[in-house]
Amino acid sequence: MRVRTARNVNNRLERPGPVAMETLAPETAADCRTERMKLQWPVVGTVFFFLLSVLMTFAFIWQYRIPKLRPEVVLKRPVPVEMCPRFPEPVPLTHPLTPVRVALEKLDVLLRSRTSRTLPSLSAVVLLNDSVLWNAHFGKRNISDLSSPAPDEHTVYRIASVSKIFPTLMLYKLWEKGSVGSLDDPLDKYMPEFSIKNPLGSEASGSSWIPGSPPSLSLRRMAGQLSGLPRRLRSTNLLWDGGTEEALQLLQDDVLVADPGTRCHYSNVAFSLLARVLSQQVGQDFESWVSENILQKLNMEETSFQWEPSSGRQLAVGVYSSGQPAPLYDLGWYRPAGQMYSTSADMAKLTMALLGVPGASLLRQDTLTTMLTPLLRCHTGYFANATGTPWEVSRLLGYDVLRKDGDLDGYAATLSLVPSLKLGVVLLIAGVRPTEGDLLNQAYSYLLPAIQGAYRDAPRTLRAPPDPQPYLGFFTYRNMTFYEIKADSSGVLLMQQFGPQVNASVPAKYRSLRLDYLQARVFRVLFDSPYPCKLKLHSASVSLENQDRQLFNFFVFNKKGLSPGFDAPALNTYRVQRIYGRPFFTS
Ligand SMILES: *[C@@H]1O[C@H](CO)[C@@H](O)[C@H](O)[C@H]1NC(C)=O
Ligand SMILES: *[C@@H]1O[C@H](CO)[C@@H](O)[C@H](O)[C@H]1NC(C)=O
Ligand SMILES: *[C@@H]1O[C@H](CO)[C@@H](O)[C@H](O)[C@H]1NC(C)=O
Ligand SMILES: *[C@@H]1O[C@H](CO)[C@@H](O)[C@H](O)[C@H]1NC(C)=O
Ligand SMILES: *[C@@H]1O[C@H](CO)[C@@H](O)[C@H](O)[C@H]1NC(C)=O
Repeated sequence: MRVRTARNVNNRLERPGPVAMETLAPETAADCRTERMKLQWPVVGTVFFFLLSVLMTFAFIWQYRIPKLRPEVVLKRPVPVEMCPRFPEPVPLTHPLTPVRVALEKLDVLLRSRTSRTLPSLSAVVLLNDSVLWNAHFGKRNISDLSSPAPDEHTVYRIASVSKIFPTLMLYKLWEKGSVGSLDDPLDKYMPEFSIKNPLGSEASGSSWIPGSPPSLSLRRMAGQLSGLPRRLRSTNLLWDGGTEEALQLLQDDVLVADPGTRCHYSNVAFSLLARVLSQQVGQDFESWVSENILQKLNMEETSFQWEPSSGRQLAVGVYSSGQPAPLYDLGWYRPAGQMYSTSADMAKLTMALLGVPGASLLRQDTLTTMLTPLLRCHTGYFANATGTPWEVSRLLGYDVLRKDGDLDGYAATLSLVPSLKLGVVLLIAGVRPTEGDLLNQAYSYLLPAIQGAYRDAPRTLRAPPDPQPYLGFFTYRNMTFYEIKADSSGVLLMQQFGPQVNASVPAKYRSLRLDYLQARVFRVLFDSPYPCKLKLHSASVSLENQDRQLFNFFVFNKKGLSPGFDAPALNTYRVQRIYGRPFFTS
């Protein structure tokens, strides 16, 4: 039999089949080419195939001849095989999970070692989906009081700029309800009296788009540190207590620091203005809207814009780097950007809502996804790798970690989440954020591998179709690859790939797949992990990673009650056809 590798480069042409589906061809090259023409495949595919078969033959000869003569050449170049899934899907986990416990113990040691005279009080929570995995509290609530106890989950901290999550949630909520037409609506649509000099764009930003018009200073950009608005109003500090009219007057003779949408630039002004625009829109003041529509909805009873000693809630006393207690300033006009107080228990509830836990969420899943998608990569020198609404995004071990930090006299806070792992971490600090070794990054350096491993190793329960019969039997993709579908004892479908080329190139343990039943005639392909991300087929490769978790859509059953075949649209593979019986291969 002649070896015919074939169409593995189809990956690059966005036409990969399920494993080996398009990579293997029992016919001769000439047959394949005619077959292809008849089926009116794009010419480019044919050309590719032709070139490739020439290349492949060469590569094949090279691989098999040269190494025999000079084995040391091969030994010097061990090719590390990357195993997949690199990004496992969150699935319900069964505790206890030893690697996760070990990671949390490390985190405990780390945080415990960081409390000091300038960081007297620290509370931390780690969340996974709908549960608190761990929470721990270190130090003393009030360093001036020798008898002060340690903080607990109900201890109140200032959360400073973490408050910016609330005007952002309000924006998305109003957008979802239709009170805000578009996230990309320009600010001056809602606040016609707003103006600012923009020497970098041309003229004033209008609401109608014309070619060459300056980028719009939109609501989304305001929530995403992309408005180009200055950090603060001209010569004000965070305690400035003027009104919005006065703020607009100050802005009139100020300049944008960057064209909107082009550069990450931290702005408190943007969030205060956003909160005011939105409250105008609902006809209710910002703070009472947030209380009614967010805090009450999520039962965040310990979160407020003010801490009252009479509330009976215990405050962690913030300190300066000198060790002196910091006063509880009121932020005035900047309150929406950083005024709030909260506890680790309440921040855990907010984090769960942001992770989209069913029943605990404020926004629809698609709105939430929009809110959690980074907007722009930031320039080097900015303190985050990318910006989102209102997130500072950093990349750790391949994951986007979304965080909102807050730092205000005497306090530091961080709410963070990794949506793709359903993981969240909250840190509340009374005192000064340690400058060396970012605590959150260190926390994630322990947690990410542990959680990722737990998801990867979790046993998968697959669903069986109501009746497996219509799906059982033999199938082929263009007589190149062959499949046998069987059912296991519980009715879950197993797919075995076979054929001369499968035997020649796919290691035995990766030839079988499992099919998870989703709905009538639709299944999801699952490889048993770990599996190689890419299968090397001579000098080209086929990506198993792209194939894992894709959908198979079986055809309507025929008169015999059998499905005549299936499509895999995500793999651009159509008309995999049933054949009646096991094919016979000649060699
Ligand atoms: C997350 O929690 C919900 C219930 O609150 C549950 O239905 C879902 O399966 C969980 N997901 C994971 C990945 O644990
Ligand atoms: C902290 O302790 C000092 C000294 O006992 C006391 O004066 C102060 O009121 C305490 N602060 C709080 C917020 O409990
Ligand atoms: C992300 O930002 C950090 C600093 O916060 C920097 O050290 C790192 O190189 C950045 N990474 C990328 C990919 O830009
Ligand atoms: C496969 O080969 C058989 C026999 O040569 C032929 O009848 C059939 O049409 C081919 N099927 C496909 C899908 O090309
Ligand atoms: C493929 O290999 C299996 C054993 O792994 C063998 O039973 C089968 O006959 C082989 N098929 C072909 C077509 O070579």
